[in-house]
Amino acid sequence: MMTKLTEAALEDLMKHARTAAEHAYAPYSKFRVGAALKLTNGEIVTGTNVENVSFGLTICAERSALVRAVSQFGPKIRIAAVAVANLNGMPSAPCGACRQMLAEFAEPKAPVMFPAADGVRTMTLKELLPEGFRLKLK
Ligand code: THU
Repeated sequence: MMTKLTEAALEDLMKHARTAAEHAYAPYSKFRVGAALKLTNGEIVTGTNVENVSFGLTICAERSALVRAVSQFGPKIRIAAVAVANLNGMPSAPCGACRQMLAEFAEPKAPVMFPAADGVRTMTLKELLPEGFRLKLK
């Protein structure tokens, strides 16, 4: 079971996401994104988008944070909350690929905060990805 995070903890997570965005490598889009994951072990892991001249190889901030979290704390991590920020003052909900990757390690009820047109919006991962891919072989 996961303990519900306080408003203060969620705000703090958003601050980490904003700070992480300062390390973005985004020379092509100039869109600087940061993500922060709060793990159920209490740790916060951040990531940023890292672009590439071969545009399709770009990795988003959310997936950067995720691969970093697994690399640092192992495959049993669980994500309690996600914060996404950008330094461009624009709405940016996590892309579909990131939602699917986050779903592997996050509780369906995990809050995901992201910049929307009217400020920071919070939705659960399940709301963002109601029918994510699951693998069940006979
Ligand atoms: N990007 C993210 O880092 N996260 C998202 O959720 C959406 C998009 C990045 C990818 C690319 O470097 C830039 O934003 C513009 O698409």
